[in-house]
Amino acid sequence: MAASFALRAGGLNAGVLPRTPNSRRACVAVRAGKYDEELVNTARTMASPGRGLLAMDESNATVGKRLDSIGLENNETNRKAYREMLVSTQGLGQYISGAILFEETLYQSGNNGRKMVDMLTEQGIVPGIKVDKGLAPLANSNGEQWAQGLDGLDKRCAEYYKAGARFAKWRSVVSIPNGPSTIAVRESAYGLARYAAICQNAGLVPIVEPEILLDGDHDIQRCLEVSEAVWAETFKYLADNKVLFEGMLLKPSMVTPGAECPTRATPQQVGEYTLTMLKCRVPPAVPGIMFLSGGQSELEATLNLQEMNRQPNPWHVSFSYARALQNTVLKTWQGKSENVGKAQEALLKRAKANSDAQRGQYDPATEGSTEAAQSMYQKGYQY
Ligand code: 13P
Repeated sequence: MAASFALRAGGLNAGVLPRTPNSRRACVAVRAGKYDEELVNTARTMASPGRGLLAMDESNATVGKRLDSIGLENNETNRKAYREMLVSTQGLGQYISGAILFEETLYQSGNNGRKMVDMLTEQGIVPGIKVDKGLAPLANSNGEQWAQGLDGLDKRCAEYYKAGARFAKWRSVVSIPNGPSTIAVRESAYGLARYAAICQNAGLVPIVEPEILLDGDHDIQRCLEVSEAVWAETFKYLADNKVLFEGMLLKPSMVTPGAECPTRATPQQVGEYTLTMLKCRVPPAVPGIMFLSGGQSELEATLNLQEMNRQPNPWHVSFSYARALQNTVLKTWQGKSENVGKAQEALLKRAKANSDAQRGQYDPATEGSTEAAQSMYQKGYQY
């Protein structure tokens, strides 16, 4: 009898069986995309020990809010200066294996005349691209949202690959206080699966991100139930769409109480609930689980990640943070060239803290900053 793992053709790595032509193993995912081997290698590189992802793919509207918070205008010059500072941080590749970019950055060169993509790759950081087109109201739902962007995605992915991207991200959202309704969960799962299939056929490792929003006063148990339902549905559609599990990465929310729940959870509880959920829903063929921070403080996000890595698990469990890596950096920078060095130090410090947490070796006593403990939660946050 066939085992329930993905079968692929030709020159394969350990753990992946060759496809048998005309095989009757119709119940398993059978595919042989031309990029399969590259996808597996890219995903493994991104899931390498002690490294995680720097999410710097804020849409122009979102990065505008960040720049506004330090009194800067939202124009291309300021967006570029900020992002050039991030990608040119020397030593970043030790802790960061991939950087998620917004389209503008993928094609941009810094003031030093060098392409952002080249600055990343020379440090061993894989460039990636956000490919969803943002959220829109989901008709006939409980005021929920869906992620747009499937039309023309194959052509866009081919262009992104040419520009140097090797992975992609698509963020859908699920709201607990608004339901979640059956159609919203299904729409999120189906959109993610179609996106993942299209990306893999263009050589991009898909990051599958159904973000369960922190909004609400629900407890951690309710978040666990919804997370289980969302991942069950997501994996059903990923399998239906013959997505190669070995060539994708996940970006889940941690299982936590809602932001307005009076009963808070300790990092130990978050670690326990989240791993329990993942072990029941995610096959070990998936190489990496890279959490989003979702409005947690920098410190909380690092402590929670550390907890996940205190117990054995079959994946590389790591981070793909935006706010929990960038908050102190932005505040340190303030848009001033004389602060670039200090802001880059702040980025390295956060990246190292999360790298240590990925290895289960983070020591919070090394923090010494109150900034890192500040929550970044905002209701209705868009990306
Ligand atoms: P946060 O870590 O700020 O939640 O970012 C999530 C995200 O999707 C960025 O790509």
